[in-house]
Amino acid sequence: MGGPGQMLDQFGAVGDHRGQAFDWQIASRLIVYLRPYLRELGAAFVLMLAATGFTLLIPYLLKVAIDQYIGGQNAPGLLRMVVFTGAAYLGLYLSSAGQTYILARVGQRVLGNLRAQLFRHLNRLSLSYHDTHIVGVTVSRVMNDVAVINELLSQGWITFIGDAFILIGIVVIMLSMDARLALLSFLVLPLMVLATYLFARRAQAAFRETRTSVARVVGNLAEDISGMRVIQAFAQEDATQERFREVNEANRDANINAMSLSFIYMPTIEFLSMLATAVVLWFGGQAVTGQEITLGVLVAFLSYVSRFFQPIQELSRLYTTMQSAMAGGEQVLKLLDTPLEVDDAPGAGDMPPIRGEIEFDRVSFRYRPETPEVLREVSFHILPGQRAALVGPTGAGKTTIANLVARFYEASAGAVRIDGVDVRSVKQQSLRRQVGIVPQDSFLFAGTIAENIRFGCPEATDARVEEAARMANAHEFITALPDGYATRVLENAANLSVGQRQLICIARAVLVNPRILILDEATANIDTVSEALIQQALGRLLEGRTAVIIAHRLSTIQNADVIFVVEGGRIVEQGSHEELLALGGVYRNLYEKQFKIETV
Ligand SMILES: Nc1ncnc2c1ncn2[C@@H]1O[C@H](COP(=O)(O)OP(=O)(O)OP(=O)(O)O)[C@@H](O)[C@H]1O
Ligand SMILES: [Mg+2]
Repeated sequence: MGGPGQMLDQFGAVGDHRGQAFDWQIASRLIVYLRPYLRELGAAFVLMLAATGFTLLIPYLLKVAIDQYIGGQNAPGLLRMVVFTGAAYLGLYLSSAGQTYILARVGQRVLGNLRAQLFRHLNRLSLSYHDTHIVGVTVSRVMNDVAVINELLSQGWITFIGDAFILIGIVVIMLSMDARLALLSFLVLPLMVLATYLFARRAQAAFRETRTSVARVVGNLAEDISGMRVIQAFAQEDATQERFREVNEANRDANINAMSLSFIYMPTIEFLSMLATAVVLWFGGQAVTGQEITLGVLVAFLSYVSRFFQPIQELSRLYTTMQSAMAGGEQVLKLLDTPLEVDDAPGAGDMPPIRGEIEFDRVSFRYRPETPEVLREVSFHILPGQRAALVGPTGAGKTTIANLVARFYEASAGAVRIDGVDVRSVKQQSLRRQVGIVPQDSFLFAGTIAENIRFGCPEATDARVEEAARMANAHEFITALPDGYATRVLENAANLSVGQRQLICIARAVLVNPRILILDEATANIDTVSEALIQQALGRLLEGRTAVIIAHRLSTIQNADVIFVVEGGRIVEQGSHEELLALGGVYRNLYEKQFKIETV
């Protein structure tokens, strides 16, 4: 199972970051995204300081209330302290709520910016990137990885600083109130650090496993759902379910494993916290009876000790967040760093209005450095307004030639020229706007039929959309649908036949009124009568345009001005239908075979 297995491995790599927990290089590049929000972050920081202050102040107020006012039997003073304590709680609530609100807003904006940037980059990356990357993994980058980065960027670091301040503050206050009792209650700290260390180390592996296994579940699910037709056709439901059961159970176990760690860690911390409280109560209580410290100090100590452990728990959680964020950040940055293989040359100008001359000058091409050459020194010349045809066996390189005309890929050697202009020297968009392509595999977006036809030309009027549909011979079937042009196209265009999809794609290409029109098997799935009608319509449409028609059905291209026979990545014959028949080579052979089959 080469394909899916490989895919799962790539999925597995989603959350893997085997480097250190904190990577400065990644962090410093991510921090840049916070720059536009420095003011908001500053405000959140101030609020965090305020919340820290209130947290530290409240136990101290208790001490004062007990020692000075309860002990001193001063009712008005006590009331004042009650009011102060209430105000401190209110301040704590307001400042942490404000901080949370600001950070959440900043976080959502950073998230939006980062996703937009990623999508922009994905839009510009050449098809060779998209050829080799699994959609599910890319989606996971843009959604999940970005979200964990954001968690660290917007919340994590400020929580970290706040927790650190609280810990330091508590230590300092306790030491200054009573150094001996403070040191006694810190006795549990080494145990605490040990427990946290052990937990964090295990948690790192456990959480990585949950991320990997959930990516496997998603990958499996996505592939099986889109392949459901094949699964059912081959009655492989059982095997498919078995495979899903495996990844699903692995994910379940990984989650249970990770959770059990927390279930062990949290009570351990609770226990240590209780131990510290017991220590304070025992020694502190004796100190109070021995009149070495006041009751207020004891109460304040108990209160501080109970507050001591929450930041520690939070820090350990933060550690796992940081791990995920570093892993996610690494992947996201890798995507952003992927160079555009096909890019506009510096200072490239716009392609001037095209007349329609296409020239391949000893063009060689391979899809990837490690794969063999698909085109070998292909040279041909199509004049403006000519109707050229590419024929040849499956895998010969016809679609590849079409891809290079629109510069979806970069020729490995040689040059592709349009009107004598090297396609590498102009802006890609200015070139592609003037080239209409009806691809071999027609793709329709979810939306209405009219929207799909209008795709390359959003401002086109309804009348023009209809005209284009008529040209493509699609008007009749569209108007026969209950909702006509407003009919919604389902995902994968499931509610349209393959031939109907092709007709809509032809209308879409026709609407932009391109100088060069490439039809890649555009009529392969259309019955011969409709095809003949399209041929007639195209006859009108192609006037004054250059057309490149790729077809297996040779009847389609008999009246082309020039036919190129492609075989094994080379042009082996060229000429008109009659010339090629007279030549008695590959073309004649193909023609006779098709003719025989069709007349049998
Ligand atoms: N995106 C791609 N990545 C890698 N190799 C590719 C890619 N597309 C095509 N190829 C390879 O390039 C060769 C030529 O493919 P191409 O699609 O140009 O053939 P074709 O002549 O259009 O065939 P068909 O008549 O079946 O459409 C094939 O061997 C194919 O395996
Ligand atoms: Mg093809």
